[in-house]
Amino acid sequence: MEKLELVEKAKEARKLSYSPYSHFAVGAAVLTKSGEVFLGANVENSSYPLCMCAERNAIYNAYMHGIKKDDIVMLALAADTEGPCSPCGACRQVISELLPSDAPILMANLKGKVQETNIKELLPFAFSEDDLK
Ligand code: THU
Repeated sequence: MEKLELVEKAKEARKLSYSPYSHFAVGAAVLTKSGEVFLGANVENSSYPLCMCAERNAIYNAYMHGIKKDDIVMLALAADTEGPCSPCGACRQVISELLPSDAPILMANLKGKVQETNIKELLPFAFSEDDLK
């Protein structure tokens, strides 16, 4: 699957967003080596801190289907932002644990902007399991 196709999947996932509080819908899509795509959208709650981001829902969706870190090829996310939508800090921490460090992360908006990065760039000096030893 091409990178821009995965971005389209993230835009599709965005339509599943439950965001009655922020009215800010985000979609995300994880592509695996076998070509499977796992979607996620943000899901909010009246108890605001319980809101869950699209990226984490997509990654957890993949893991709940037996996918492991090394099975993952790339992640795309999309929202109606001015520039490419950037993952929040909590999602960066989760990505650093659950995605390969060099997996492309495609940050997109609805106007056709797409910026490619990876978690090494987004979260340098990440806390990891090594710090627990
Ligand atoms: N949100 C995401 O889903 N991903 C991000 O990377 C940024 C924020 C969601 C959380 C909340 O539902 C809404 O966007 C506003 O912050």
